[in-house]
Amino acid sequence: MTTTDPDTEVGQDLLRFPPGFRWGAATASFQIEGATTVDGRGPSIWDTFAARPGAVLGGDTGEPACDHYHRYPSDVALMAELGLDSYRFSLAWPRIQPVGAGRVEPRGLAFYDRLVDELLAREIEPVVTLYHWDLPQALEDAGGWRNRDTAFRFAEYAALAHEHLGDRVRQWTTLNEPWCSAFLGYANGIHAPGVVDPKGSLEAAHHLLLAHGLAVQVMRDQAPDDHELSIVLNFCALTVDDDSQLDAARKVDGLQNRLFLDPLGGRGYPRDVIEDTAWLGDWTAVVHDGDLDVIAAPIDWMGVNYYSPTRVAPADDPLKVDDGPFPGLRGVDFLPPRGEVTGFGWEVDARGLTALLERLQRDVGLPLVITENGSAFPDVVEDGQVVDEARTRYLVDHLRAVHRAIAAGVDVRGYFAWSLLDNFEWAAGYSQRFGIVHVDYDTQVRTVKRSGRTLAEVIGVNAVPG
Ligand code: NOJ
Repeated sequence: MTTTDPDTEVGQDLLRFPPGFRWGAATASFQIEGATTVDGRGPSIWDTFAARPGAVLGGDTGEPACDHYHRYPSDVALMAELGLDSYRFSLAWPRIQPVGAGRVEPRGLAFYDRLVDELLAREIEPVVTLYHWDLPQALEDAGGWRNRDTAFRFAEYAALAHEHLGDRVRQWTTLNEPWCSAFLGYANGIHAPGVVDPKGSLEAAHHLLLAHGLAVQVMRDQAPDDHELSIVLNFCALTVDDDSQLDAARKVDGLQNRLFLDPLGGRGYPRDVIEDTAWLGDWTAVVHDGDLDVIAAPIDWMGVNYYSPTRVAPADDPLKVDDGPFPGLRGVDFLPPRGEVTGFGWEVDARGLTALLERLQRDVGLPLVITENGSAFPDVVEDGQVVDEARTRYLVDHLRAVHRAIAAGVDVRGYFAWSLLDNFEWAAGYSQRFGIVHVDYDTQVRTVKRSGRTLAEVIGVNAVPG
């Protein structure tokens, strides 16, 4: 992809994106596929977790989700109608390896063959995520991400998926948001597998990063030169009012951003994070000689998921232990959102995205792709229409924020809306709708929302109104 100076258009009616800028929408296997027991798929940790009373709001499960497993042809047709040139989705590991190791299920691979072929027939580039949280349950039974062996199983799975689809798929992401897998999964347990083990969650973070690095190595070895490998992180964009908040911000930045960025960038784990978390026990004992080199295997771009800024302040008690997902975090208060919030209660502030992108340009030095950005609101269909004004405003404001970053010199290559479809929003079940396309879960009818139409217009002119 080439980039030209988009600056020329700033201040005029249309803010143009660079030629070749990639436009897409994103989803994840467990959130949309349904068909959880079809064609030999094994159970994942999310099937098990959702069956646990009280774990997911309303007792919702991965059924029926959007029944995308059966409806993918019409969903791909919708993507084409919206003008998307790319589609980011994930492979369900337990469809391909029902117990996460050994035996491969050909019917699982065949589903992704059909999906990829359908996309290519419509000239939509597949951007494949290997792991978007649906770990095969059998691997969790053996310790999950707290077990080093899972990293090696992941590399085997990555190798076989890449080997199978690599003739048609050029864009590969290893992990989606390993912070969530490690800390929502194993620190406060609000996500599958629902474990509360703060020290173990840091060990899980290391094993996830190791899995990423091992997968990059094997895929690089078998990939043609034009394949691009990546990881997708959920950064926190810390907004501080004054210097008194800086130390609290440093701690949260350490546990969410630098804990991942530093080892990926070849700098090892941040010293201050190791010191701040030492009271939990020495989790760094799981870091073997050579692991840090594996984790730092070069990648081609970094995916950025951004939704909302984070505000923190020092707690009155410097030893107050955070009861959220940040393992070992002490002495920090999370401040309430300000101004407009989404249906989830997340603060809306597009400036956080520009600032984050500028910071990543400095600290990462890789091309960036916005792999997720979006907002949940309680949409309703009226007269066959969904007029989601708040989401449409959010979309346009965040696109302007991306444009501002590009104009300031940040190398952003694409934007993927989260999400193509309303879907299973993890612990919130079906209660939160992020789609640019509405899904009626009873009838499976899709209705393109105003935000979807707006994105289609933006894509049509490769520009957003200034
Ligand atoms: C990030 C996750 O990758 C995605 O699965 C989730 O639905 C969105 N955030 C919204 O919470």
